Amino acid sequence: MVIAIDGPAGAGKSTVTRRLAQRLGFAFLDTGAMYRAVTWAAIDRGVQFDDGDALLALAQAIDIRFDGESVFVDGVDASVQIRDPLVTRSIVHVADHAEIRSRLVGLQRQIASTGNFVCEGRDQGTIAFPDAFLKIFLTASPQFRAIRRADQMKAAGQYVDFDQVIADQKIRDQQDVNRPVGKLVRAADAVEVDTDNKSIDQVVAELVQLAESRIKTTGQGS
Ligand code: C5P
Repeated sequence: MVIAIDGPAGAGKSTVTRRLAQRLGFAFLDTGAMYRAVTWAAIDRGVQFDDGDALLALAQAIDIRFDGESVFVDGVDASVQIRDPLVTRSIVHVADHAEIRSRLVGLQRQIASTGNFVCEGRDQGTIAFPDAFLKIFLTASPQFRAIRRADQMKAAGQYVDFDQVIADQKIRDQQDVNRPVGKLVRAADAVEVDTDNKSIDQVVAELVQLAESRIKTTGQGS
């Protein structure tokens, strides 16, 4: 069973996904980490971002695995490196590549077929899991999202220039909604949840309630 959570950067998806999965006894899948892993591997191995064939070959060759909190690329723990701002700025080359997306969506489906998952990303309810049991679209105002992003960066020990965070967010939003394939869009049957002025606990409680009431109505258990 899959619960798909989509939404823009900074809407609180990662924290909410992990907490929701924990509450329901599901595993979670951070699909952004896959795009980050390919991007990091390209930087690490000197693959040029304007060489689409080489990028695809890399994406097909590397082994990406998840182990609860950590992400492994060919057996190397790259959990910290994939969050580097250089990776974040370069992801567009990987995320806009249709064949790389199709390879990663295949991997997402393969992983999710092994159990009950809460999957988060941009295209989970639209492309990866159009038949998901429950689809959530998490939103928040640009200001709130930027504050969350800045807090995350501070917690990761990164230097924070708030104007830069806002500017980077605008660029990523444009890239996410204008992507040729797998763009960020709310699935017609997704429930939209606005996270402005709500604590993580409140959002998680709202989603647990949504999931539990759907489990009750459909008679499907975990
Ligand atoms: O979720 P996160 O911000 O870590 O995702 C990193 C990048 O990967 C995003 O900027 C987004 O453009 C891309 N992405 C994507 N499709 C997904 C998940 C993430 O294109 N399913």
